Formats: sequence, C-alpha cells, structure tokens
Amino acid sequence: MMRRREFLTSSLAAAAATLASRSARASSGLVEILLDEPVGTIAPELHGHFTEHIGEVIYGGVWVGENSKIPNVGGIRKALVDRLRQLGAPVIRWPGGCFADSYNWRDGVGPRTERPVRTNFWDNTTQLCKAPDGPQKYDPNTFGTAEFMFFCRLAGAKPYLAANVRSLTPHDFDEWVEYCNSPAGSTTLAQTRAADGSREPYNVTYWGIGNESWGCGGDFRPEEYAVEFRRFTSWVPDYGQKLRFIGSGPGADLRDPQVSWTRGFLGNLVAKSPDLLDRLYGLSMHYYCWTTGKGDSLEYTPDEWYQMLSQADFMDSLVPLHWSAMRDFDPGHKVKLVVDEWGAWHRNTPLGPAYLFNYVPSLRDALLSALTLDIFNRHAEKLAMCNDAQLVNNINTLFLAMEDRFVATTIFHVFDMYKSHQGGTSLRTVFDAPRISYGAGKTFWGLAGSASLHGKALVVTVVNPHASEPQEAEISLRGAAAQSTQVTVLTANDIHAHNDFDHPDAVTPKTEPANVSGSRFNWTFKPASVTKLEIELA
Ligand code: AHR
Repeated sequence: MMRRREFLTSSLAAAAATLASRSARASSGLVEILLDEPVGTIAPELHGHFTEHIGEVIYGGVWVGENSKIPNVGGIRKALVDRLRQLGAPVIRWPGGCFADSYNWRDGVGPRTERPVRTNFWDNTTQLCKAPDGPQKYDPNTFGTAEFMFFCRLAGAKPYLAANVRSLTPHDFDEWVEYCNSPAGSTTLAQTRAADGSREPYNVTYWGIGNESWGCGGDFRPEEYAVEFRRFTSWVPDYGQKLRFIGSGPGADLRDPQVSWTRGFLGNLVAKSPDLLDRLYGLSMHYYCWTTGKGDSLEYTPDEWYQMLSQADFMDSLVPLHWSAMRDFDPGHKVKLVVDEWGAWHRNTPLGPAYLFNYVPSLRDALLSALTLDIFNRHAEKLAMCNDAQLVNNINTLFLAMEDRFVATTIFHVFDMYKSHQGGTSLRTVFDAPRISYGAGKTFWGLAGSASLHGKALVVTVVNPHASEPQEAEISLRGAAAQSTQVTVLTANDIHAHNDFDHPDAVTPKTEPANVSGSRFNWTFKPASVTKLEIELA
C-alpha cells in the first residue's frame, strides 16, 4: 500500500493524474487497486494460529477430554473444531511460546494414564500461582504430540512444532522428528506413534528451532544462537520430507533500528557458510502491542482506541525493516519472515484464576487484527507464515471457552472475513483519505486495507479507523471493471462492543449485495468498521 506522497513520486503517471484531478475533494478518499501490479501470493499460512500450554488455552480451551460432558471429538472441543473448519485454518503452532523451551516431547507420548505430571513453565508467574492445582499449573501431559496432530487433522490445519533449544539437545530434537515422520513400522518411535494412534507418519514440515531465544528460550546472544541453530539443524534425519526450519528471530529489539538480533544471527550463520541459508526456511519475529501499562480491553477512550491501532500499525514498518536487513546476508531473499506471535496485549479480564493473559476482545481488537492481516497481505512476498497469539482464552484470542460455554470473539469474525484473501495474488493498492487527529497533535491514517485477485474474483478489505465518522471514497479498479459486488461489514454503534458468553452475537458481520459496478464507483465506509468487497470482474 502506498500513501499519496509515495504514490506521486512513483512512475505511475496515469494514476497520478487521477489523484491530481481529485485534489479539490480533500475530504473524500480514494481506494485504488492496481490490477497489473501483483505483489506476490498470499500464502494461506499468513492467517495462521498459535496454541500454548498456558492458562486455559490447551486444557479447558482445546482439550476437554473424551469423557467430558462438553461436546468433543476424541477429547477435542467440538465447537472449536467446527469453527476452525469454517475458517479454513491453515496452520497451528504448538506447544509454545516460552513453554516450548521447557517441554520434553517424550512426556506427551505413550499411554495417557502413564504420562508424567510436570510443573508447567507458566507456574512461576504470580497470576498462575494463585490458581488452584490443576492441569494449567501441573501439566498432566494428557495433551501431547498425538493429540495435537489429531487436533490439526480435525481442524484441517498443518502442524508447526516448536523445538526445545534451551533445555533439550539436538539428539532429542532428531528423535522428535523421528517420532513424527519415520515411516510406518520402521523404528521403535514409529511403533510408539502407532500405539498412540497413527501408524502413518505425520510428515511434519514446519519446525521452530526454539522460541524467543534471546529471552525465555535460553537468554542467548545472537552469535550464540547461530551456533545452536546450526547444531539443531545439522544432519537432521528428514525421512524424505523437506523440513522447513524456522529460526528464532527478533522480539525484544523490535524498536532497535540496528535490528541487532536479525543482523547478529544471520551474520554469524552465513559467516560459517552462506549455504546455511538453505537450512533456514523462515526467520521468526514476535510483535505484541499495548497501551502504557496494558489497559483494559473493554474500557478505553477514543484516544486509546487510536493509540492501540497506531501501535499495531507499527508492523507495517517492522516487516520491511527486518526484510531489508536480511537482504544484506541473503541478497536473493531465500529466507522469508515468519511473524509467529502477534496481537494486542491488554490487562487480564478476571474470568477465573487459571485464565492467564486472557481478556475479552472488543471491536477495537477486530480493527487491530484486520489492519494487521491487511499489512501481511500487502507484504505477501516477504512473509511465509504468521500466527495470531493465541487461538483461545489468551491474548488476541479468536474464542473464549469456559466449561461448556464457547463464544467466537470479534477477532474470529475478522479471520472469517479475511479467509477470502488466502491463496490469492496480493495487488498493489493506493489508499488515501484525510488523516484523523487524536491526542496531543497525533494523527492516524484515514483508510487502509489490502486487495487480492483470484481469477475473475477481486477481494478488497478496508479498515475505517474513525471512531465516529464514516469515510466516503472513490474505488478505482485500474485495468478492470466490476460486474457484480457483494459487501460484508463488521462494525457496531459502540466502539467498545464485544462478544462474550452472555452476548455471543453482539458483533457479527453483515453481508449483502452492493449496487455498484464499472471501473470506478463510490463507497461509504461506516465509522469504526472493517469492510470486505467481493467483486466479480467483467
Ligand atoms: O504468547 C505468550 C508469550 O508471549 C509466549 O509464550 C512468548 O513467546 C511471548 O513472549
């Protein structure tokens, strides 16, 4: 996406003429879709998910047990599976997060009743310590690799496993790969897998080499982590499967303009041999946003609304910042970025003592998630995967689950709307609208979004962040004309609107045909809204 100034300096003279002729209507906006300027394919994995053994995510959220009164499929919460199938969930990351670097995968295989009970990594947080003893505090390992694979199979998603680099060895990692991928009947671990329910290999391709290795994943320096990455990925048995290793990337230094972790890790990797880039499928990056002191998820001022959206919008600079640093070590850009944790981090909503990092998301989180997915779509050529943190009962959650109650949050509805982008060709776009003023002299963009082409079908998503005013815009399809259009809008009269157990449908998208056609037409974007235009081209 380009802003007006960047756009005018580009070589797109014809489009610039359009903008010039519009300058008299300063209060109106422009959404221009450049159909002959493909950016790259939007990998379905850019709309992926993340689950961790933390609070009520796995135990209580995903896993309820086979004997539960809660409707389940082999112990997995059925309502969650149904919703993930609706989404076409592409990929799920597991078992962490910080938990991954404390996890021994062997604890989670074999007969469930014989698995060891361990103290959960997250037990050492003040909040969870107050929790009653239970699976969130003492992990019974009932949910292990076989259960996760079963969950992925039910959901129709690919698995992405994060290996323990802090407290296990490369040998342990090799054997986890063997447990997952060795041919049926070939090894003792293949037999263990068969006894756990799958004679056939799982053929896992995505493997994270640690998590936040600069912090909870080992407190490494980037040069030290480069050594670990080489050891963990050296001569791993592949069982005929192309393994896609994802290196632990930046997090703490995101606002570091020197991008020191990215540079330090890649520099030390290629110093040994540039060929090692072939082992690095993706470089992970984590970015959470919050207002000062982590505010309440449901109580905020209009200023805090814009402050939060503007924090999220920082992703639009982070991706190119790290991408251009990566070019210094990988000029051909073999390695892509993997944003495997992202989301808005607010203060806990007190749902219960075991609900760690949990809150009820609102319309603000819906817009924040939509503008983030738009950023990913616009940078499709740089990104291999992105995983919202986390799927259920946690930060930026798509679902809330408590006993037999289950609700799809505002964020779920954004993912449901945006699934139409998956697999399409991301197109260059121009968004232009008057900036919104807030706070002491701050401003935020007036409209932004993304577009993708799927044969004769064009999908355009647009966020109007204005808390109270609609924004009119001319929609211009450069090089195509609309034959018919359908529009879906997610909004509410109150910017604090949200779905919860008592009001599961307070915020849901509305779809209707739109009476617009041709190469140019006007559209009014409602205040505080996410809009999807599905356009059949002539
Ligand atoms: O998502 C919660 C935690 O945030 C993850 O475990 C960790 O990777 C990140 O710091």
